[in-house]
Amino acid sequence: MRRWTWTIFAIVGLILLFASMHLWANPTVNTDEMVGAKRCGQCHKSAYEVWKTTRHSRANKALDSHQAKDPRCMQCHGTTSERTGGVQCEECHGPGKHYAYSYVMKDKVLSRLVGLNIPKHEVCGRCHTDSTPSIRTFDFSTMWGIVNHGLDQ
Ligand code: HEC
Ligand code: HEC
Ligand code: HEC
Ligand code: HEC
Repeated sequence: MRRWTWTIFAIVGLILLFASMHLWANPTVNTDEMVGAKRCGQCHKSAYEVWKTTRHSRANKALDSHQAKDPRCMQCHGTTSERTGGVQCEECHGPGKHYAYSYVMKDKVLSRLVGLNIPKHEVCGRCHTDSTPSIRTFDFSTMWGIVNHGLDQ
């Protein structure tokens, strides 16, 4: 009985700790807590391969050297660093510092508590707005078709 009580305390404590770390994080994406697509790609090989072929992986290359330092452009095109550059996995899935471990990822509750986001259509609208340069209006199924990825089989 005693041992059980302590175990429960420890688990609840850990969950609260991780949850609060997530809450302190920037409501959009905290770049300090990003691990970079390469790290995600160690386990998510097919998602990484798809991402590499998309314009998201090189969105920072669209900027010249001045624009690359302009926070207005960086919020959608990313920085020049490899870890936070372009449109990283974590721009849509949340910063991975606390969830990018197999034992956390396999736990659907814990992973979400510590920052994992399973995005819906809305996530695209953060950057694909009416004022972004595009000859066509944003149609989710067409655009998702180009960047479609998921779990390895
Ligand atoms: C050490 C290996 C590892 C790393 C690194 C890793 N993952 Fe995972 N990920 C997993 C495993 C294992 C699962 C669970 C797969 C399953 O349930 O079939 C998973 C599941 C997921 C899921 C689906 C989760 C769900 O509950 O539906 C997403 C999304 C995901 N990972 C994104 C990422 C992102 C983004 C990164 C980088 C920030 C990342 N992963 C890094 C191993 C990893
Ligand atoms: C709100 C998010 C957002 C901001 C802020 C933003 N962009 Fe973009 N930008 C996009 C998106 C999304 C696209 C792609 C549109 C498409 O192809 O459908 C894009 C496309 C571009 C392209 C064309 C890329 C190509 O490969 O053809 C250039 C160049 C560009 N942006 C430069 C900039 C510059 C310079 C700034 C800062 C002054 C900036 N953007 C700010 C979201 C943004
Ligand atoms: C532009 C936003 C965006 C980027 C960038 C992105 N993803 Fe995703 N990801 C999504 C969306 C949207 C889904 C679909 C969720 C659904 O099926 O409802 C998804 C699904 C997934 C899934 C499957 C989740 C499940 O439960 O079936 C995994 C795993 C995943 N992404 C990993 C990654 C990895 C790894 C990267 C980087 C190499 C990445 N994603 C980059 C938006 C993104
Ligand atoms: C963090 C900002 C951001 C988010 C979130 C985002 N995108 Fe993008 N996306 C961009 C930028 C910036 C570009 C242009 C990159 C370039 O060409 O340099 C782009 C380009 C694209 C392209 C290439 C367009 C073409 O003509 O080839 C597709 C497709 C796309 N995004 C789909 C999506 C989808 C689907 C989602 C949501 C699941 C999404 N994006 C979410 C910033 C974003």
